[in-house]
Amino acid sequence: MITVNDILSKKGKEKITMITAYDYQTSKLADEAEIDMILVGDSLGMVVLGYESTLPVTMDEMIHHAKAVNRGRKNSFLVVDMPYLSYNVDMKDSLYNAGRIIKETGANAVKLEGGKRTIETIKRIIDLEIPVVGHLGLTPQSVNKMGGYKIQGKEKTAAEEMIEDAKELEKAGVLAIVLEGVPENLAKLITKEVNIPTIGIGAGIYTDGQVLVIYDMLGYNELVPKFVKKYATLKENSIAAIKKYIEDVKNGDFPSKEYIYKAQSKIEKIY
Ligand code: KIV
Ligand code: NA
Repeated sequence: MITVNDILSKKGKEKITMITAYDYQTSKLADEAEIDMILVGDSLGMVVLGYESTLPVTMDEMIHHAKAVNRGRKNSFLVVDMPYLSYNVDMKDSLYNAGRIIKETGANAVKLEGGKRTIETIKRIIDLEIPVVGHLGLTPQSVNKMGGYKIQGKEKTAAEEMIEDAKELEKAGVLAIVLEGVPENLAKLITKEVNIPTIGIGAGIYTDGQVLVIYDMLGYNELVPKFVKKYATLKENSIAAIKKYIEDVKNGDFPSKEYIYKAQSKIEKIY
C-alpha cells in the first residue's frame, strides 16, 4: 500500500501518477495498472451522475462511490473529494464530514478546494490525523464566482495570490496540492516554491505529478478540454460493440452454440 511518506518522497525524484475512479471495476483497473493515487473526485457529479456542475454532489453520493472504489484497490493511495458545502460553512460540520469520509469509506486522505479561505478548516482536519490534499487554480466548486471554467492565475496579482496560497497550504500540512487549469510557468514556480508535491491537471509538464479524469483519458467523452490526451477510444469502441450485439440479437446470430448450456440428460422427458 502506498503511503503519505511514499508520495512525499517522490518529489524531485519520480513523477506521481493519479487518476480518478468512481466505481469498483474502474478502481481495480487503475490499481492493477499500478497508479500511485486514485481520486474519487466530485467530478463524479458531472462525469457519472450527469449534473451540470459539481455543486449538487452530496456527501452521501461521494461516500457511496468512494466505498466501491476502496473495495477495488489494493495498493493505490485513495483520496476522496469533500463536496461543495460539506466544508467551510461550519467548522464542526467540516470536521464531521471529513471524518465520515475516512471512517466510512476507508480512504487515506480528503481533498478540499481553496487556499486562504479553506486554511482554518484544513488545519483542523489535519489535527484529527486526517491527511489532506489541497486544490488550487481552477476550482470547479467556484464555477459561479469564476464565471465559468477559466484558466486561473494569468494576471500577476492572481498568480502571486496562488503562490501565497500554496505556501499557506504547505504550512498547514497538506500532503500535496492539485493545481488545476493554471499557466505552465506559474505551476512550475509553485512547484519550486513548495517542498510538497504538486499534482497538475491542465497545468503543464513541471508539476511533480499529473492527474486526469479517467473517462476523459479513456475517450468516453467527445468534448474534452485541451489538456486531455485520449489514450483510448472507448466511446466509439463501446457503441460499435453495442451495435454489433443488437445486430446479432436481431439476426439470431447470438447466442450461437458456444454460449448455450446443455442439459446432461434429455430434459424434455421431465416436461
Ligand atoms: O473532481 C476531480 O476529478 C478533481 C480532479 C480533476 C483533480 O478534482
Ligand atoms: Na474535484
